[in-house]
Amino acid sequence: MRRRSFPIIVAGVLCAALTACSSDGDGGDAGEPAEDAAKVEVFSWWEGPGEAEGYAALINRFKKDNPDIEFVNAAVAGGAGSNARTVLASRLAANDPPDAFQVHLGLEQEDDVKAGKVEDLTALFDQNGWRDKFSKPVLDAVTFGGKIYSVPVGIHRSNVLWFNAKTVQAAGITKPPATWSEFLKVAATLKSKNVVPLSIGPGWTQKHLLENVLLGELGAEKYSGLWKGKTSWLGPDVHAAVTMFTDVLAMSDIKTFGGDWQSALDKVIDGQAAYNVMGDWADAYLSRTRGLTFKTEYDATTSPGTDGVFNFLGDGFTVPKGAPHRAAADAWLKVCASKDGQEEFSVEKHSLPARIDAEETKFSGYPAIALEAWRNPDTVVVGSATHGTTVGSARGAEFDTALAKLVESGDVDAFQKALASTYAGYLASD
Ligand code: GAL
Repeated sequence: MRRRSFPIIVAGVLCAALTACSSDGDGGDAGEPAEDAAKVEVFSWWEGPGEAEGYAALINRFKKDNPDIEFVNAAVAGGAGSNARTVLASRLAANDPPDAFQVHLGLEQEDDVKAGKVEDLTALFDQNGWRDKFSKPVLDAVTFGGKIYSVPVGIHRSNVLWFNAKTVQAAGITKPPATWSEFLKVAATLKSKNVVPLSIGPGWTQKHLLENVLLGELGAEKYSGLWKGKTSWLGPDVHAAVTMFTDVLAMSDIKTFGGDWQSALDKVIDGQAAYNVMGDWADAYLSRTRGLTFKTEYDATTSPGTDGVFNFLGDGFTVPKGAPHRAAADAWLKVCASKDGQEEFSVEKHSLPARIDAEETKFSGYPAIALEAWRNPDTVVVGSATHGTTVGSARGAEFDTALAKLVESGDVDAFQKALASTYAGYLASD
């Protein structure tokens, strides 16, 4: 561990400000400054183009507010945490935790909470008066057994269809498909003109597509019931919806895809493909990273069949048990929870601030539309399975296995049976 030396007075002030120097595990004899407390290692997956820039804004805010704490960025690339989660699990297993790590809001955190791997942050919330800064669904998504385990930072929408108006218009298509059946019709037209109807990426993006086909085909209530043990996975409606997914996937470039979510969007922008279903972090990539103008050079609408529905997911940070620099981790969480931090982060990441008091005037273009939908009381809010809102990590892993087999074999019955077994005996309390 690298050691830094500070004048006693600075360390003393820092100690008073951060409150936990004696208990952060940095050790040192009593009376010695806790030198390494002035460092925080934060683990995330915001490493790729389109999301690293948003994260940089949050880190910059942290550095401004905490000039004496060194920030160590331990991000591991891979959309939706596809690689990060494995790396984090092995670090936790090896008793080498970072000081804070990124989590999805929702059930994905539950296994870590139950396994006692993360700190209870309820007192931090109460000391800082954070409870009333978040809406009930957001606070509920980080509360387990009445205790709060992470700080929500940003919200995203999963059910978004991205397209290049020029490509679809050139194929004679004048409006985006409102249902997946309509999509299949326009897909046939696009194919006849040598345009890939839908671009896709690795496994997690296929799951992302599946959840939104299920949502569009089953409707909000039945879709939500799937993750609560209330909608039977064996029903004919689910059979039809999963069959629709296999039909939609057959219209994609699944046999030839390469890269992550950004590459799939590149194909839409470059005119090789017409549509892509992706969460609205895509907007940061298209507008800022690729420098394109919303509406003229790319466009977005709700994915087929989901008008008026917001398939929600969120990001936050939590602290693992045994974090080496707990006081600095709390300083990081304070920035994550702050109005400034959330606004600066979301403006760059094109997420929506998790706080209810963030100002709408700071958002324009696509994010302004998403924010209006998120705050509109008439919007029906459901939770993403792929991004952990409604599915815990153990069930999520079983889902991944079943989906990989479905994509390989096209066997819808086998997929239904696998998910029915995953959810056997489970009934959510609400
Ligand atoms: C999601 C995450 C988003 C974005 C996306 C792509 O799971 O919540 O913030 O990072 O993955 O990596």
